[in-house]
Amino acid sequence: MSSTTCNIRIAPGKDIVVSSRLLQTLGIGSIRQLRLTFGSKSMNTSLKSVRRNDHLLKLPVSVASQLMLPRGGKCLLSTRGSDEVRIGPLVGILAARSKSVSNSFGSMSSFFRQLAAIGKDRSYFFVFSPKDVDWENETVTGFFPNPSGVWLRKEVPLPDVVYNRLQSRLAEGVTAMNSFKESFLRRSIPIFNWTFFDKSDVYKLLQGDDVNKYVPESMMGPSGTDVREMLTRHGTIYMKPSSGSLGLGIYRIQHTANRGYTVRYRSKGKNHAVGYKNFDAVMNLLLRHQKGRLSRYVAQQGISLIEVDECPVDFRFHMTKNGENQWVVAAIGAKKAGKGSITTHVASGGKLMNTEQVLQQAFGSNGSNVLQRAKNTAVDIAKALERNYPYLLGEIGFDIGIDKSGKVWMFEANSKPGRSIFKHPDAKSQERDTLTNLFDYCLYLSKFRRGGNDHDHRSGKSGKASRRSYLSGKRQRSKVARRL
Ligand SMILES: Nc1ncnc2c1ncn2[C@@H]1O[C@H](COP(=O)(O)OP(=O)(O)O)[C@@H](O)[C@H]1O
Ligand SMILES: [Mg+2]
Repeated sequence: MSSTTCNIRIAPGKDIVVSSRLLQTLGIGSIRQLRLTFGSKSMNTSLKSVRRNDHLLKLPVSVASQLMLPRGGKCLLSTRGSDEVRIGPLVGILAARSKSVSNSFGSMSSFFRQLAAIGKDRSYFFVFSPKDVDWENETVTGFFPNPSGVWLRKEVPLPDVVYNRLQSRLAEGVTAMNSFKESFLRRSIPIFNWTFFDKSDVYKLLQGDDVNKYVPESMMGPSGTDVREMLTRHGTIYMKPSSGSLGLGIYRIQHTANRGYTVRYRSKGKNHAVGYKNFDAVMNLLLRHQKGRLSRYVAQQGISLIEVDECPVDFRFHMTKNGENQWVVAAIGAKKAGKGSITTHVASGGKLMNTEQVLQQAFGSNGSNVLQRAKNTAVDIAKALERNYPYLLGEIGFDIGIDKSGKVWMFEANSKPGRSIFKHPDAKSQERDTLTNLFDYCLYLSKFRRGGNDHDHRSGKSGKASRRSYLSGKRQRSKVARRL
């Protein structure tokens, strides 16, 4: 495969005209009969070559409309085999439209625009919702960002790659959504970040793997006896709803010989700390709050985090794949908990900090070593998750804790990570790195990467894992079910 930039001019006339230099760059010799492809649309064409020293492809209006090409201008071309040229890549972001404004993507809009800006002149970027896809005709009515800030609807073929940013657990949870996404797999269209992670699912995926040592001891659906035993072992435990987020519904239980039990939690915008003499009273509080059921809760060993101003600090490691299909730590945000808060979320009084400064404060000159070790650990965990997960992953947000001895812990993996850490003024270049990497990973998956080779990229995996990701949707699902 070879791949290059090109300028497409849509013009009247009947002939498809290619500059000689472009043919040369693409390594197309004497062949003049070609398949021209855009997303899922293809047509057989014959080419006329003109002697020109640039990368020009002139398409008749009729060809552009048959391929459903939304615009001329700059993009990439890539060859497949000896007789196919692909225009693209056509990248689709799967997202939910805002309920109030039908042509907006709510708080995600600016992120999508940023991503499209990174891919400008090198791709066709659009956002779509499930109901925008017409499977019969294999087309999508996508939303293309335009410079004046509006989203323009255009009908295009099915994309070369799908980045799943559906933001609602509810929407992701319905069975119809699974078969919707499987329709892409059936057509060999790579889709990455299949769905939300549940905490207990992630912990289970890592069980038995070497990186499990970075996960605090965790137990799904613990009984009262389990909670009591964990408290005896660790002194402090966290109780977290398995599919929760933003710190909602989390309790921290601490037991000391002289003070008894202290339960901390946040409710209605306030932090609470309640003391109890006996354990049964603790369980009664939890059960009363949770309508008698803790089956969807995870009990987890509490970690004694490093502190700044006597408030715990933890870190968001924003992991992305890059254009070489490798995991990288694209960004790190340090978050200091609000006074009296058991979590570091900004919504509960948390504050973004500079990572290097925090680590220097906590570990002095050893801070940079600790950081490097944490980065290596995060990459190892990302690889392990991917190894044990049957779908493609391109982005993970890890909540990482570092304890006072410098040990690294992973509390949570988010498959649809938020972008609030980029509000910190020191995070601008890291924010750009996440966008660049995500775009490059889309190029990789869609096989539009410049200078890329002809490996089978579509699964993004190799060996056994690769075969697994090619399994039919149903088998993929049952594999997941068995694993979890
Ligand atoms: N086992 C733990 N020990 C210490 N702190 C924890 C532990 N688990 C969670 N936390 C704190 O609570 C925060 C929220 O926990 P997390 O597992 O990320 O749940 P959520 O889905 O609500 O974000 C973490 O960022 C961390 O500050
Ligand atoms: Mg979290």
